Amino acid sequence: MTVIHDRRPLSRRLVLSRGAALVGAASSGLLLPEIVRAQGNKVKVGFMLPYTGTYAQLGVAIENGVRMAIAEKGGKLGGREIEWVKLDDESNPAKGVENASKLVQADKVDVLIGTVHSGVQMGIQKVARESGVLNIIPNAGVLAATRALCAPNVFRTSFTNSQPTMALGKPMMDKGLKKAVWITWKYAAGDEAFEGFKEGYTKAGGTIVKELGVAFPNVEFQALLTEIASLKPDAVACFFAGGGAAKFMKDYAAAGLKDKIPLYGSGFLTEGTLEAAGDAAEGVMSTLHYADSLDTPRNKAFRTAYARDFKMQPDVYAVQGYDAGQLLLLGADAVKGDLANKAALYKAMGSASIDSPRGKWTMSKSHNPIQDIYLRKVENKDNKVLGVAAKQLADSGAGCKMA
Ligand code: BEZ
Repeated sequence: MTVIHDRRPLSRRLVLSRGAALVGAASSGLLLPEIVRAQGNKVKVGFMLPYTGTYAQLGVAIENGVRMAIAEKGGKLGGREIEWVKLDDESNPAKGVENASKLVQADKVDVLIGTVHSGVQMGIQKVARESGVLNIIPNAGVLAATRALCAPNVFRTSFTNSQPTMALGKPMMDKGLKKAVWITWKYAAGDEAFEGFKEGYTKAGGTIVKELGVAFPNVEFQALLTEIASLKPDAVACFFAGGGAAKFMKDYAAAGLKDKIPLYGSGFLTEGTLEAAGDAAEGVMSTLHYADSLDTPRNKAFRTAYARDFKMQPDVYAVQGYDAGQLLLLGADAVKGDLANKAALYKAMGSASIDSPRGKWTMSKSHNPIQDIYLRKVENKDNKVLGVAAKQLADSGAGCKMA
């Protein structure tokens, strides 16, 4: 479903709709070109994000972040007003191509901001590569998007799926946790998070005793938790996110595992889930490119403004959306709003250095962030930073050839 939000002041809306009515009747040639030019001059920004299902909160946080970054700079892109379009992609990969095509062909967006789910991103990637539409990925970590299927018009402000988990191995081994079970949702995000975990943990000397999986977005974990209890590993590492992550931590605690087998995760496990998970999340360790408690003026100002504007606490998804907004602003400013000037637009975005609440990051040649990965521990419903687990970590970008 596409919903168009019109956030123009009422007076402006009345002027335009009155003008539109006049167009049909007017014999004067003066009014029509003026109205058409005013509307055509807007930049059309499409959000293709999940607004329902287990990733619904992630979509909302991303949209909030994008809007906040742009509002902070006057609400325009390169001097042009914005028309926003929203589409709920339901985290459904089967509808990825159809939904992205609708935004590009029917809604004619200039920029497509999306999405969260790696499988859905594969649909967007196809449409972006074929149509040439500017796509900013504010979350989905699917490797191919900035490796073999990279494209000059696709930029990511988040991570690749293997980036956060690559950094988990050393802190686990430092604690003497030599044998681990891996558990995940079985789809690209979980499988590729496992690639990163396997590389980091085995390099540090750890052994993975079992890989367990459940289909996305299934949250029936009981049988697998029973299996973990019987395997008795030193630790469990996992990838889950959104509503399913909160349920996993609660079930892990309810199964009596929390105080026996330390739980580690790709940091999405504890992002936006701490209220819902409650005590079950306390003590959970993870690695991610953001942490609530980063003690920098930039992060503190961001968190205060976000909480004021949206009456909720920001998380990594809000930060990734905020940086998508910053990246778009930077590109649009470089071409003074002329987004058709693609060479200059992509050059500016490709050489971006972003001053983010997560810390400064730069864009790699394959258009993925080069960024610090933090080690975090949940304490009093907060992702407390314990240190930097990997400094300025870049994805390999293997197989990326920009056309
Ligand atoms: C993904 O599908 O790429 C993803 C979804 C939620 C959090 C992190 C990654």
